[in-house]
Amino acid sequence: MFNCIQCEDNIFRNLIDGQWIISKNEEFIEITSPIDGSLIGKIPAMAKEEVDFAFESSKAAQLKWKSIPVSERAEILYKAADILLQYSDELTEIMIREIGKDKKSSKSEISRTADFMRFTADTAKNMSGESIPGDSFPGFNRNKISVVTREPLGVVLAISPFNYPVNLSASKIAPAIVAGNSVILKPATQGSLCGLYLARVFEEAGIPKGVLNTITGKGSEIGDYIVTHPGVNFINFTGSTEVGTKISRITSMVPLLMELGGKDAAIVLEDADLDLTASNIVAGGYSYSGQRCTAVKRILVVNKVADKLVEKVKEKMNNLKVGNPLEKDVDIVPLINSKAADFVCELIKDASDKGANLIVGGNREGNLIYPTLFDNVTLDMRLAWEEPFGPVLPIIRVRDKDEAIEIANKSEYGLQSAVFTENINDAFYIADKLDVGTVQVNNKTERGPDHFPFLGVKASGIGTQGIRYSIESMSRPKATVINLTR
Ligand code: NAP
Ligand code: G3P
Repeated sequence: MFNCIQCEDNIFRNLIDGQWIISKNEEFIEITSPIDGSLIGKIPAMAKEEVDFAFESSKAAQLKWKSIPVSERAEILYKAADILLQYSDELTEIMIREIGKDKKSSKSEISRTADFMRFTADTAKNMSGESIPGDSFPGFNRNKISVVTREPLGVVLAISPFNYPVNLSASKIAPAIVAGNSVILKPATQGSLCGLYLARVFEEAGIPKGVLNTITGKGSEIGDYIVTHPGVNFINFTGSTEVGTKISRITSMVPLLMELGGKDAAIVLEDADLDLTASNIVAGGYSYSGQRCTAVKRILVVNKVADKLVEKVKEKMNNLKVGNPLEKDVDIVPLINSKAADFVCELIKDASDKGANLIVGGNREGNLIYPTLFDNVTLDMRLAWEEPFGPVLPIIRVRDKDEAIEIANKSEYGLQSAVFTENINDAFYIADKLDVGTVQVNNKTERGPDHFPFLGVKASGIGTQGIRYSIESMSRPKATVINLTR
């Protein structure tokens, strides 16, 4: 099933205009495994002319695709979901090797993606327009009626990050195409193989030529060209705040939907169930080595229960399994590359140098950073503010809930926060004041279920995702006004 995307010498092809095309450009990027450095494939650094062809193909395909009935577009998603599950084992192996994700999380990313596709198809089929009578506005009568339907936007450029190479590609592609757009997928370079396999799944499901095209190449090299391409009608980006900010600076008059970085706080009050809290902090902070936008990235705990919480978190951290995801089931895996591991080590060193108490971890073997917990982190330390995207958590002790809110809101980020308390009034008091997209009460920060609205404020994003919200973001209302003469 996947043979067509690969040719000799482990070189991968791109899906353009319904064909798996061998790049004419002689330049290839080697994809090596973060686990052991082994070469797992070579992807084309596509030339500008090839990118232009992808845009031409997408434009032409979208004009036809938008007139295909929604029920038929939805059928492709149901089929793609089935095919994805059929190849789950094969894709899991690739994902483990390509991004070092543990087997359980890789498998669950794939099954979650199949669920996402089916739910997207169901939702699209059940969305309806509205008719608005004119007489609710002063001076108008019922002879004027606006019939509001939804129109696709055109060509959607979907740029996905390395950490969920299947889910965060499909969660852009599925709502976009069901809304009648065509999509150009530019996967993260480390994550491209997963992205290309996903494209093959859609192709096998019968997506018409050009409705889904892929582009590979380093974002630092082709990024500016693709985001400013005159053929782009919408950009759906997930990745770092740094790159997201750059895209928003250099684009013009192209709507953007962006999921960016985060520094999600777990706020712990004195009446919290500390066992539940510690379990959620450990699962939320360390799974996939903290390489999740919604990972818990700081703990703000009131002084009164801080010692107890530290003990419980430390105890539960003993259960984290560290190592090679190809050999065993683990929680802590090598980080995606040495640059990422170096960055985490810088934050660890800064916290140590400035007097934070190292409770657990702090050590590194290659790109594997052991799960690390610091207590008494203060606001002059980088770890209090920067997103490590690695397995290190700072505990910041606070006087009370108001100080927790103040510190939480001082962050440049505003993705999610968690509040642990048994008091519903305090939970609402805090939720009301936090400047974030989502507040979780007595649970770790997390995206799912995927039909909930998912958004970041401040430096954490633009616009709202979540199945129905994503379909709405990638379509626009079209008003046809009936003027009756009666
Ligand atoms: P990244 O370095 O920003 O890369 C994300 C994507 O952007 C990749 O496909 C990358 O391609 C591409 N890119 C890089 N430079 C570009 C440019 N100048 N123009 C256009 N595209 C460009 O992020 P990452 O390291 O993959 O992912 C980690 C970050 O993503 C973290 O900050 C994390 O918080 C964030 N994230 C956020 C969410 C969320 O939902 N809020 C979810 C997941 C991840 P290359 O790979 O070729 O460089
Ligand atoms: O970081 C990717 C984003 O989709 C979060 O998903 O399930 O890890 O909260 P989750």
